[in-house]
Amino acid sequence: MGATQLYQQVREAFEQRFPGEPPRIFQAPGRVNLIGEHTDYNDGFVLPVAIDRQVVLAARLREDRRVRLWATHFQQGSEFSLDQIVPDASAPWSNYVRGVALMLQQEGFALRGMDAVIAGNVPIGSGLSSSAAIEVATAVAFRDLCHLDIAPVALALLCQRAENEFVGMKCGIMDQFIAVLGQRHHALLIDCRSLDYELVPLPEGVSIVVCDTMKRRGLVDSEYNARRQECEQGVTILREYLPDVKALRDVTSQDLARYGHLLPPVVRKRCAHVVSENERTLQAVAALRAGQVEEFGRLMDQSHVSLRDDYEVSCQELDCMVELARVAPGCLGARMTGAGFGGCTVNLVQTEATEAFTQRVADEYQREMGVKPEIYVCEASAGAGSLSPNPSF
Ligand code: GLA
Repeated sequence: MGATQLYQQVREAFEQRFPGEPPRIFQAPGRVNLIGEHTDYNDGFVLPVAIDRQVVLAARLREDRRVRLWATHFQQGSEFSLDQIVPDASAPWSNYVRGVALMLQQEGFALRGMDAVIAGNVPIGSGLSSSAAIEVATAVAFRDLCHLDIAPVALALLCQRAENEFVGMKCGIMDQFIAVLGQRHHALLIDCRSLDYELVPLPEGVSIVVCDTMKRRGLVDSEYNARRQECEQGVTILREYLPDVKALRDVTSQDLARYGHLLPPVVRKRCAHVVSENERTLQAVAALRAGQVEEFGRLMDQSHVSLRDDYEVSCQELDCMVELARVAPGCLGARMTGAGFGGCTVNLVQTEATEAFTQRVADEYQREMGVKPEIYVCEASAGAGSLSPNPSF
């Protein structure tokens, strides 16, 4: 479903569920990460893009402190009071909204109740960050409707906290950050320690193609949290020899060559991925700025190998999709994107070849895996915001 239909759908659903004054409409995009995977929670570097797939939220304030929600995708409602926010196991999607409302209030922001309908075309569970998009769309809606004075980076951090503390997924800052601060035609190099960021223009003539393996991520939360612990274990041991190390961000390849043998083998592999991925991400940005798209693609390929062999977060479907992509027309680079264990790959493809690429990869993947993949050519899009009251389309 395209953006125009999405806005229409959310408006109609709102009218039906909550008749009266028309709502205001807010949006937050999904994201795809070009390179810099599993580096954000190691204080490292990431290079995501906000994509032209969004969560939209139609909302109108209420006079009381109730929040009444309806999710078109699940055809399900969920309701709570701002004075007693607890998770709703029967409507897990509502926990992203609940978590954000709770964190805003904990920060001292005065909220009012609202009626809201949530819709979207970010595929769920495919690693394109639909959950961060719900959090950020909610935060932007409360911010604008309740006139909250909250800066963009603070908003992203608050949404991350909602996910860490309320939902229980110990994610890094990348997804919420890019959903708030993404820019059209640009990737964002984010320093996840300082939270400084740089806009990196995407060169002409190449396209970002996302291939969904259709394998939905299972077990991702427990494996993800386990990887975080292994990284922390690496830091604890390395710090005995390198006292300035606060996170894997501070470790170089040379350090690992020298002290790596002191780590348990699995921890050493995890550290090798993170350290090399940080280095690759900075090299990739330099390549992009210099217009060296082949070099950028080569670094993407290396990133996949490292995630597959050292970080061990890939799976058969992702590996198959990446291998097919690499020999498809116009492909400059291919890798898994997001947390892993299923979901999507990201590919850099010569724009003139995108159709041939898409066709070939779709056919071959279906033949090998017996499943039809979804493939999208993505536009780098703007971060979250409010749509004008009557957008013309
Ligand atoms: C998930 C998390 C992010 C990041 C990626 C892996 O998307 O939400 O914070 O850690 O995995 O790079």
